[in-house]
Amino acid sequence: MAATAEPALDETRGAGRWYRRDPLGYVEWARRERGPVFRLPDDGSLCVADPDEAARVLHDGEGRYDDVSDFFHVPGGRLEPRAAQLAIGRAARRTLRLHLEASRDRLPALAAALGETSEWPAAGRDLTHRFLAGALLRPGSPPGLRALMEHVVRRDVLIRPPGAVAAVARRLLWARVVRAIAAEAAARRGRPPHDGPGDLLDAVLGAAPPGTPASHVAHVYLLLFRTSVAPVGHVVAWALLAAAAGGVDLAEVPAEAAVRESLRLWPAAWLLGRPVRRAHEVAGVRLAPGESVSVCVYLLHRDERHWPEADRFRPDRWDGAEPRGPYLPFGGGPFTCAGAAVAQSLATGLLSALTAGARLSVLGGGGRPHVAGIITPPPFRLRRVPR
Ligand code: HEM
Repeated sequence: MAATAEPALDETRGAGRWYRRDPLGYVEWARRERGPVFRLPDDGSLCVADPDEAARVLHDGEGRYDDVSDFFHVPGGRLEPRAAQLAIGRAARRTLRLHLEASRDRLPALAAALGETSEWPAAGRDLTHRFLAGALLRPGSPPGLRALMEHVVRRDVLIRPPGAVAAVARRLLWARVVRAIAAEAAARRGRPPHDGPGDLLDAVLGAAPPGTPASHVAHVYLLLFRTSVAPVGHVVAWALLAAAAGGVDLAEVPAEAAVRESLRLWPAAWLLGRPVRRAHEVAGVRLAPGESVSVCVYLLHRDERHWPEADRFRPDRWDGAEPRGPYLPFGGGPFTCAGAAVAQSLATGLLSALTAGARLSVLGGGGRPHVAGIITPPPFRLRRVPR
């Protein structure tokens, strides 16, 4: 693959504005015009949308990229060592899995509680949070803290809504939440071990190295909290929206296939960044330490050479009859999502509960997705009436 020449300064500025306004539109254009490997105009990161090159980046066995996970950022660095990161991922997954197994039969009542009309994607985050509430903060946690976490979900703090005022309010609220969770983590450390099913905070406390500052525990907990609520709610929202747009009746489709297809068209983590540690080449482009590579999951999932009718929502492509292309909604290689299987089961359970015995229709949802870290669906209204 030939690398394109560096664009002129004006072009870079214009492209930067375009990219900030509509990153998905920009990368679609760049792949058409420049091929599957090109520079992103904001930070110059090398965007990779070629399946073989992407696999080489994610499965790097030669120390070309930092071998630390971005997921475990804490103030001033990362929660280390890697073994503790892996242990936290496993403990979090186990907590959610046990909760899902024990509470699955609550899903229909939660879906019914949405009422005849609900506003999405906020309703998807709210539904996921209501279902997971006991696993995110166990019963007996301070009521004020539980109310605060509910407020965080309701105020859309998990998705970085657009607008400067919203950004300031979100940062202030987030700082308050970090303090509140850190206080709860410190209090739990001072008490005898909890008897009964633990929650996500117990999982992080139990797997983090002894002496990890409570504020670092809080940061990692909050990242897991956010990841358990927002992307899962959005997978369900995208399935509802894409099915309505494509004329697919979700009652006729296995929920698992609809979830897989939703994750293909709209992968929440659409860009996977890897900081370069050793100089090397990707598709003929020389990279130096300090630069970064971004594997573009969004483009890989819409590659017409590998996914026929790539832009269409077609859950039937998961019935095994058709060859499938690159599929990385949960990443790949050593940093693959620890919660992939449980997130998929959870989204499938939520979608099944919404579609069972009900007729669904969608109003609105025609806008562009909001992209800030993860891809958030445009607002739409869901009408759900018994069949
Ligand atoms: C639909 C929901 C989810 C999506 C789309 C998703 C996606 C991802 C992706 C793409 C990565 C890899 C990032 C990279 O390679 O840089 C990742 C990492 C991770 N995810 Fe998820 N995730 C989801 C839900 C969850 C849940 C529910 C948990 C809770 C257990 C979780 C825990 C983690 C952890 C701990 C990592 C870091 C893995 C490591 O560095 O070892 N995720 N996730």
